[in-house]
Amino acid sequence: MIKINFMNYIMGIETSCDETSVSIINSEGKVLSNSTFSQISIHKEYGGVVPEIASKNHLKKIIPVIDSSLKEAKKSIEDMSYLCVTNGPGLINCLMIGVATTKSIGLLKDINVLPINHLEGHVASCFIENDINFPSICLVASGGHTNLYLLEDEKEFHLISSTRDDAAGEAFDKGAKILGLDYPGGVEIDRLSKGGNKKFHSFPIANLDASFDFSFSGLKTSLKYFIEKNNDWKSNIEDIACCYQEAIVESLLIKTKKAAIKFNSKNILFAGGVACNSRLREAAEDLFGSRALFPSNQYCTDNGAMIAMRGLQKIKLEDIKADSKFPVFSSSKVVASLNLD
Ligand code: KG4
Ligand code: ZN
Repeated sequence: MIKINFMNYIMGIETSCDETSVSIINSEGKVLSNSTFSQISIHKEYGGVVPEIASKNHLKKIIPVIDSSLKEAKKSIEDMSYLCVTNGPGLINCLMIGVATTKSIGLLKDINVLPINHLEGHVASCFIENDINFPSICLVASGGHTNLYLLEDEKEFHLISSTRDDAAGEAFDKGAKILGLDYPGGVEIDRLSKGGNKKFHSFPIANLDASFDFSFSGLKTSLKYFIEKNNDWKSNIEDIACCYQEAIVESLLIKTKKAAIKFNSKNILFAGGVACNSRLREAAEDLFGSRALFPSNQYCTDNGAMIAMRGLQKIKLEDIKADSKFPVFSSSKVVASLNLD
């Protein structure tokens, strides 16, 4: 059985996509360091993440990032009681760098190694800076996932719904590509939209009947048709970006609100890279007031602190075994889904 005492320090290691990130937290969940090497500038020229290039850079950077995280926290590796590492979902060759490195350090230094689900990590990012009341709903919107979770406590995050096609971040990235903007598209569309007119055009919002599921592929196609039909679209690029963003934000909030009502949600949590979006933050606050909680941007995009935080929750709940035989997995696993009938 795993016991935690006041002197324990936990390291979180995240390498599932294009960020090499390592964080150290204490047993009260206080973040002592969160060092991230972002590969965005490397992948920009390809218009998206190239898995092989990403894994090569994780291999180059993982030890320096671990070192800089320890230095920032003024700790040594021997001070760590647990090493928590993302083991999926994500790019398999990227996950393998993080997991193999962590297992090796664990073996060498005799430190417990714990596997952490990346999506549970995103949910846990909401607990870093906020006190959460239960039950709560959490929307995780990232480049690969758009999931709604019901949280009745810190133990299990019940998956309520997901996207039927593209993820919200993917809709931002693909939309940006259609508009000739740089990767990551969400950041560019957010920036351009600030000068745009929300009423310029109405893009379709998928409502998908009574379910809590999301869909974004129709929206992306309608942007493509709009551009093809309007030769002078470039002169209205800010308005188009703004209306496209408005449709994504509205789709996210329609389903999130519906779930918040159904499950009497005390807080409405937002996590994942798309939670950095300034319009989503503004509209969620208009809709839910102070019940809406967002992590700060550094904890929305992929980071080691959220992995350490999920590790801490599991250690406290004695819900995890230190066992170095765990695998890596690329696809999203439904840990627990709710029967909504
Ligand atoms: O959570 P994350 O860092 O990585 C994944 O797990 O996928 O999310 C990355 C996604 C990208 O699709 C990116 O375009 C989007 O988050 N993103 C944003 C913003 N910043 C990042 N989307 C909308 N507005 C933003 N400000
Ligand atoms: Zn992520």
